[in-house]
Amino acid sequence: MSESHSQKFPFENGYGHFEDNGWSYRITDHRTPRPWTNVVSNGLAGFIVSQNGGGYSWRENAQLNRITRWEQDLIKDEWGKFLYIRDRESRSFWSAAWKPVCKEPEQYSVKHGIGYTTIDSKNEGITSDWTMFVPRKDAIELWLVTLTNRTDRPRSLQLFTYFEWNLGAAPDWHREFHRTFIKTAYDASLKSIIATKRLWEVPSDKAHWNRSWEYVAFHSCSEQPASFDADKESFMGLYRSEVNPIAVEQGRTGEQSGDWLDAVASLNVNVELKPGESKTLVFAVGAGKNSAEVKKLIGQFVNVEHAQAALTDVKEMWREMLTRFQAKTPDAAMNTILNPWLQYQAIAGRLWGRTGYYQTGGAFGFRDQLQDSQIFLPIEPQRTAEQLRLHARHQFKDGTVYHWWHPLSEVGHPTEMTDDLLWLPYILGIYLEETGDLALLKSKEPFLDDTRPATMYDHSCRAIDKVLTRMSKRGLPYIGAGDWNDGLSAVGLKWKGESIWLGQFLHRILLDFVLVSKMMKDTSRVKKYTAVAVKLKKDLNKNGWDGKYYYGATKDNGEKIGSAKNTEGKVWLNTQTWAVLADVADAKRAEQVFDVVENDLEGKNGTLLVKPAYATPDSDVGYLTRYAAGMRENGGVYTHAATWSVLAAAKLGRSEAAFRLFSKINPIRLCENPKEYIAEPYVTPGNIEGPDSRFYGKGGWTWYSGSAAWLFKGGVEGILGVKASHNGLLVEPCIPAAWKNYSVQRLFRGATYRITVENPHGVDSGVAGLSVNGKNIPLAGISRSVTLPVAKKGSTVDVTIVLGVS
Ligand code: GLC
Repeated sequence: MSESHSQKFPFENGYGHFEDNGWSYRITDHRTPRPWTNVVSNGLAGFIVSQNGGGYSWRENAQLNRITRWEQDLIKDEWGKFLYIRDRESRSFWSAAWKPVCKEPEQYSVKHGIGYTTIDSKNEGITSDWTMFVPRKDAIELWLVTLTNRTDRPRSLQLFTYFEWNLGAAPDWHREFHRTFIKTAYDASLKSIIATKRLWEVPSDKAHWNRSWEYVAFHSCSEQPASFDADKESFMGLYRSEVNPIAVEQGRTGEQSGDWLDAVASLNVNVELKPGESKTLVFAVGAGKNSAEVKKLIGQFVNVEHAQAALTDVKEMWREMLTRFQAKTPDAAMNTILNPWLQYQAIAGRLWGRTGYYQTGGAFGFRDQLQDSQIFLPIEPQRTAEQLRLHARHQFKDGTVYHWWHPLSEVGHPTEMTDDLLWLPYILGIYLEETGDLALLKSKEPFLDDTRPATMYDHSCRAIDKVLTRMSKRGLPYIGAGDWNDGLSAVGLKWKGESIWLGQFLHRILLDFVLVSKMMKDTSRVKKYTAVAVKLKKDLNKNGWDGKYYYGATKDNGEKIGSAKNTEGKVWLNTQTWAVLADVADAKRAEQVFDVVENDLEGKNGTLLVKPAYATPDSDVGYLTRYAAGMRENGGVYTHAATWSVLAAAKLGRSEAAFRLFSKINPIRLCENPKEYIAEPYVTPGNIEGPDSRFYGKGGWTWYSGSAAWLFKGGVEGILGVKASHNGLLVEPCIPAAWKNYSVQRLFRGATYRITVENPHGVDSGVAGLSVNGKNIPLAGISRSVTLPVAKKGSTVDVTIVLGVS
């Protein structure tokens, strides 16, 4: 990773551009059409920050354990942790980020990097360089702030930090109630404001309103503050706002702390700068388990050298983790989104932070984070194994699972959604292709309602077997309260409605688990799952077929939806893509349904989830129909599902379609038109509005989207064709014919594979030549794929593949 600013990335869009070989995004116009944020987390602590300086901090759970207050308002973006700078002489002041003072800076730019954000600004001849990050593994957020006097006279400055304490579940909607439990104190020896709360409101918790927040929060500085304030009224002044707090206006804080205040944190530090002089300070925000941890964290990090070393260290951690996989193709937008942004989004945003500006999750979704954990497969599969184990522990012994649960409180939500439980065997099957790790299959985890541990194999079979008890007379699985599509929340509440997609998904898993059962020498299951899969495929093709494509589901009253017979929601995407991915459609039908995807569902920004959108709510379908037409699941591009089109196109060998569908949802491409698209160019959106919306093409719900890990998979496995299999590492290129070559480096079963694919004849697929470590391997003609055998752990395998024509 180069830190040079000269390597400008070509995707300048008027608001910013990529730098550092694509490893950071620099925003040069802070008036981006929505807040463009960074989610920075190490899995224990984290924060989100916008280009304006808006955002919030948390420890472990961004919803139940938020340290600083924030309210969701993407138009004002006025909640954050702020830094004011005041000139003593002129008495004027500004903020280091554009918010909250909103003075026009002389210079301003924001760099969202991998693991950190830097806000650079210049006001009244003073530059401030404010870098925020969390270290590799400790629960502390650090700000490295450097002020430089760019004028030729000495300057006497005052710095005031400012944010509101939340200390627990967010949003803190009833502040007058909550503030009465917060206590603050100033600890001069720690150069810190300390905050505690005697109440932790955890929704559905048994100890409702009767437990303390189990942490000690702190806000510290590396310098001895001149003064402080922990009271909002005294800092801000009654009826004022963050734009002009009285303390900053007058240059002195009230030094209030204790009980009953509207608790905030502000440290005031004086900085004297000679002409040309710079000064660096460190501020920290965090929450320790107890006072001892707080002391330890402050001692360890709140010091300029230590903080600088921690920043270098955390950048190195990310660099090391996210360069284990590398793809180099002729498409710069594809390269940058694959390395490192999709990986970073999936890990920092979805698995560790589990939050975004558009949605604070905090919880683990049973299906969601299992899917996300696929991102670790080519770089650190052990972490996928840990995720699988964690989810297994959130299963009941009857095979059903929590739809989501909150770490820290362990409050969870049992569900009648019918797909959740199946993601455990599905991802486990994929993990086994990656690792061949029989030990995980045999290792044991308890259930939510039974402490006696069972093998991961047993956990998985219980999920499959549970779904097999929920089949209709026509051989299709019941949909219950929804399948993958949460919005189908009322289709089958009476346990009569059926889901075609769930049947396809189940078919895929049965095929995978026939192999897994063989590995476990469980012959009765091999037989059973083989027979069930054969019947299911027949029933899906008979009872799930609409004439030209697979319809979506049946309601409890038997009526079909997602069918040509309907007037709204006539064609659904998932039942077409998964007919291909799950080997349900035979070759002819597979081509036929994918024609439907390309002709009927593909729009300018990828494939729509349903078409046309529902214009009016249908209470027998669910809240999908209640979204405005064209938004989210109701006729928008639901990016997560749109990625499956890339994989299905590639599976059918439709190379141009695969790359086109990938590029259409590559945010770098989407944000070539930022005024229409509005969202960040470096992370995927949850959705893009469809043609039935007034805002066709508008993106939203960035960061907290399950599409990141899947788009990565679509690009790497679908297009570049490199994927793990039980027999070895498969290479099955399905590329634009115009590509001359590309390369992929990844780990597979402990060895590093460096694969170069040459395309001298301008074809889109077909392996004609292979050499491994310089040795030519004779091939019997041209084949769609080659399988590279498992190599010795720790070794490097250099592979050259030549595509050819027969
Ligand atoms: C949301 C949910 C996810 C679901 C998807 C489709 O992204 O988090 O679990 O599959 O919507 O409804």
